Amino acid sequence: MTASRTLFLRQLIRNPRQVSAIAPSSPFLSRAMARQIPDPRARVVEFGPGTGALTRGILSGGVPPANLTLLELDPVFARALAAEFPGVRVLNAGADRAADHCDPGVGAVISGLPLLSMPDPVALAIVRAAFAVLAAGAPLIQFTYGRRPSIAQSIIEALDLRAEERQFVPLNLPPARVHCYFRRSDTPLPRRG
Ligand SMILES: C[S@@+](CC[C@H](N)C(=O)[O-])C[C@H]1O[C@@H](n2cnc3c(N)ncnc32)[C@H](O)[C@@H]1O
Repeated sequence: MTASRTLFLRQLIRNPRQVSAIAPSSPFLSRAMARQIPDPRARVVEFGPGTGALTRGILSGGVPPANLTLLELDPVFARALAAEFPGVRVLNAGADRAADHCDPGVGAVISGLPLLSMPDPVALAIVRAAFAVLAAGAPLIQFTYGRRPSIAQSIIEALDLRAEERQFVPLNLPPARVHCYFRRSDTPLPRRG
């Protein structure tokens, strides 16, 4: 087992609700998520990078390390990420605080967060934070293991989002679907609240 899988398993046992997945994302899912980034030269923010499975795909897709910010709640994962990805901005912070740390105009937010397992108000605060930093027309990219959209319908309606299913990835444990979310209107969202 690789060091990053061992670390993932250890943190899963310590904090199953926060990690909320049986394994890190596969390289196939990582590439499928990274392919949704419209412009690899733009700034990218990743929510919940864990052991960096999606981070590797984002960087291999051409995003320069200096343009990538990671928001990871678990301090053990955050330390390991900072060691593995020099030049990438790694913050030990909740994704709901994205607007405190990132300037607006972000080209894509990639989320590995288990949004459907979170209480609705928590998930709403996180999705709202993503759109508070995203440029107009830029996507929130999120995967899910089930057939349902990866963001609850109540949140889609509250923030006036449009969902697009982009890819089914069978070679992941479990198989996953990649969705992109866009705001329907250009009305700016408040950065917090
Ligand atoms: C399902 S794991 C995904 C890890 C990785 N992105 C992947 O796809 O393999 C979820 C990760 O999100 C982190 N996390 C959970 N809630 C968070 C929050 N509110 N803000 C930032 N990270 C969070 C967990 O600590 C964990 O690292």
